[in-house]
Amino acid sequence: MARDKAKENDGGWRKFIWNPDKKEFLGRTGGSWFKILLFYLIFYGCLAGIFIGTIQVLLLTISDYEPKYQDRVAPPGLTQVPRALKTEISFSLSDPTSYKEYLDSMDKFLLKYSNAEQTSDMFEECGTTPGPYHERGALNNDEGKKKSCIFRREWLQNCSGLNDPTYGFAEGKPCVIVKLNRIVLFKPVPPQNNSLPPEMTMNYNPYVIPIHCQGKKEEDIPKIREVKYYGMGGFAGFPLTYYPYYGKLLQPEYLQPLIAVQFTNLTLDTEIRIECKAYGENIDYHDKDRFQGRFDVKFDIKSS
Ligand SMILES: *[C@@H]1O[C@H](CO)[C@@H](O)[C@H](O)[C@H]1NC(C)=O
Ligand SMILES: *[C@@H]1O[C@H](CO)[C@@H](O)[C@H](O)[C@H]1NC(C)=O
Ligand SMILES: *[C@@H]1O[C@H](CO)[C@@H](O)[C@H](O)[C@H]1NC(C)=O
Repeated sequence: MARDKAKENDGGWRKFIWNPDKKEFLGRTGGSWFKILLFYLIFYGCLAGIFIGTIQVLLLTISDYEPKYQDRVAPPGLTQVPRALKTEISFSLSDPTSYKEYLDSMDKFLLKYSNAEQTSDMFEECGTTPGPYHERGALNNDEGKKKSCIFRREWLQNCSGLNDPTYGFAEGKPCVIVKLNRIVLFKPVPPQNNSLPPEMTMNYNPYVIPIHCQGKKEEDIPKIREVKYYGMGGFAGFPLTYYPYYGKLLQPEYLQPLIAVQFTNLTLDTEIRIECKAYGENIDYHDKDRFQGRFDVKFDIKSS
């Protein structure tokens, strides 16, 4: 009896999987399975077709050399080396390990700018004073890869790390290196002389995008006292000679122009907030983006 019952139960399952009376497999006949598989085959085939088609169309409109949607990136970020945690540079004059990390990051960053790294024939000499934009043809590979202008690390003088490997940190006169982030084919437009703050017009040059650092708040200003700028030709600005940039594929060796800023007489044992700004007709600042066209940095140097 028990055995019969077991057989019956078993038979229910088996019947579901393969029902010999109705010739159904898992509840469907062969014809029904065929139709349903055919339907899904066509359905997913169409989906895949639409998917591949749209990607192909998108790819057709994209250039290898120019990012399509870079207009979404608001021009251009201004950043500094050493990148500080919470943009606070805090160290103690009596403890070299407290600033070692900053020196290491500057060494690493400036390595690309040493003479030995700029000897390939993809570099060319572009003079020692700022000049107009250096156009290098269209944004395509018709003329092969494009050369880049040499940027001499020596131009950063006391902030080059060549004479003083501590970049002024050991003396409490720290340097920061400032760069504008790369944007393909971006041409920064210099400001008019008369639109600049008066302290900047003394060293005016029509071929640079000047930068200027000052106290962020009223109370910071007397604590800063002296700021020195080092850059190409002794100008406190990014020379137009290095623009436009043609992108990583076409201009693989490109180096951004740098400016070094040295704070040579900061008040010790107090927090000082400093804001550095780049000035140009197409450089904007935004309240929400603290790195667009400017950045700020906080110094806290302990004398002991
Ligand atoms: C560079 O550093 C040396 C030694 O500290 C100093 O004598 C010189 O005045 C500095 N140069 C500038 C431009 O500040
Ligand atoms: C810029 O303006 C300042 C002050 O108005 C003036 O002394 C200087 O000669 C001007 N420089 C140029 C290159 O126009
Ligand atoms: C630094 O600033 C103080 C206060 O203004 C001044 O007395 C001192 O001479 C300055 N030091 C240098 C080296 O300029």
